[in-house]
Amino acid sequence: MDTTLEIDREALAARRARVAAHCGRPALIAAGAPLPRTYTANTWPFRAHSHFLYLVGAHLPGAYLLLDDDPAVYAPEPHADDALWHGAATTFGDLALWLGLPVRPLHFLEERLGPMTATLPPADPRTCDALAALLGRPVRPETVAHVDEALADAIIGARLVHDAYAQRGLREAAEATAAAHLAGMRATHAGVRAWTVKAAMEAELARRGMGTAYGSIVTPHGEVLHDEAHHHLLHDGDLLLADVGAETRGGWAGDVTRTWPVRGRFEGAQKAIYEVVLAAQAAAIDAAQPGVRYRDVHLAAARALTEGLVALGILRGDVETLVAEDVYAWFFPHGVGHLIGLDVHDMEDLGDRAGYAPGLARSDRPSLRYLRLDRDLAPGMAVTIEPGFYQVPALLARCADPRVDRGRLEAFGSVRGVRIEDDVLITAQGNEVLTRAIPKTIAEVEATVGG
Ligand code: GLY
Ligand code: MN
Ligand code: MN
Repeated sequence: MDTTLEIDREALAARRARVAAHCGRPALIAAGAPLPRTYTANTWPFRAHSHFLYLVGAHLPGAYLLLDDDPAVYAPEPHADDALWHGAATTFGDLALWLGLPVRPLHFLEERLGPMTATLPPADPRTCDALAALLGRPVRPETVAHVDEALADAIIGARLVHDAYAQRGLREAAEATAAAHLAGMRATHAGVRAWTVKAAMEAELARRGMGTAYGSIVTPHGEVLHDEAHHHLLHDGDLLLADVGAETRGGWAGDVTRTWPVRGRFEGAQKAIYEVVLAAQAAAIDAAQPGVRYRDVHLAAARALTEGLVALGILRGDVETLVAEDVYAWFFPHGVGHLIGLDVHDMEDLGDRAGYAPGLARSDRPSLRYLRLDRDLAPGMAVTIEPGFYQVPALLARCADPRVDRGRLEAFGSVRGVRIEDDVLITAQGNEVLTRAIPKTIAEVEATVGG
């Protein structure tokens, strides 16, 4: 166990007290267990479920937090052979000192559980099965059972607005993510494959004892929104899209996209589209203020993007009408961003319950169906702002809208996809772009790419 990870025991105790008070019943939260890769003993690196991490602060495989009148962690006792393969286990006494919470053997847990014990179903079915066996009722990731709704809402209420400890984690993730993007820009040359750039980016994270918060996207096919293939050869004249974010040792996520020219210079069409996406991002960041509904941040980006595409002759018509009738969505088919925290799409394990304010539901309009957040912003919330412009062949093949000038679009054929994404903390005064150190203007990017 890596007990060198610094834990803010006071902040964790305050989180637990808050969640317990809002939940109003005992709550059982699982850390989860290492998942097998190819056979049981060959596992993926362990990462605790985020609700557990939020309340305990550490990755304890197989452990549970029980929030009742005597909150404690219940952990599996080491097997006699574990010392041989994994070294001496940290004693429960040392774990308790580190965590600031009693740690007890797992076999004492079941007797403390009852029909009113709430839980949350993790995405991993094995842990759901373990929770179901402990609680004697179904626990499924697709649904939050009625008895568990109060816990879900208590956790959402706490995790939505980041406390000072969480903000430190997000800043640490942003700093490492910035280093990764700088390294990626510097490592870019025609003739290398995308995985070379990916390796340079992820090396910066590994050097800090960190990993990635999600599968890195490093691709000259920016039009594939989540392209996780890394074999593409980079050509002079390509744009490279890199969507890479750190996960700190404590589990906090960064999520940043930059798009840069392989040769270090944007050519005319690339520059024109890049400026349009940059203006859309700036408009959205300006709009991301406390009290503003996040859907209006999306619409600020949509309006600026539409204005830019009209100015370039790609779209024809009145900007407000083009926005109201979703015409921009042929080129910007996703939402402008999402919550970020311990999960890159924070609390998406709870579906739209976290992202959508009570009473609001996801729209099925083409421009809004992938909007993952629709709440009024408040100080302490952290969101991504990530507009883009993509020419997705499968999408454009269906587009018969005469307001999209297909002839004019041909002049922009060298632009497959551009996304610009930053992580933004909402403050009492407005907002702070946590990832602002990463080159973003054309001049900054051109000065960095290639070394
Ligand atoms: N990297 C995933 C996203 O931007 O949402
Ligand atoms: Mn994102
Ligand atoms: Mn991203």
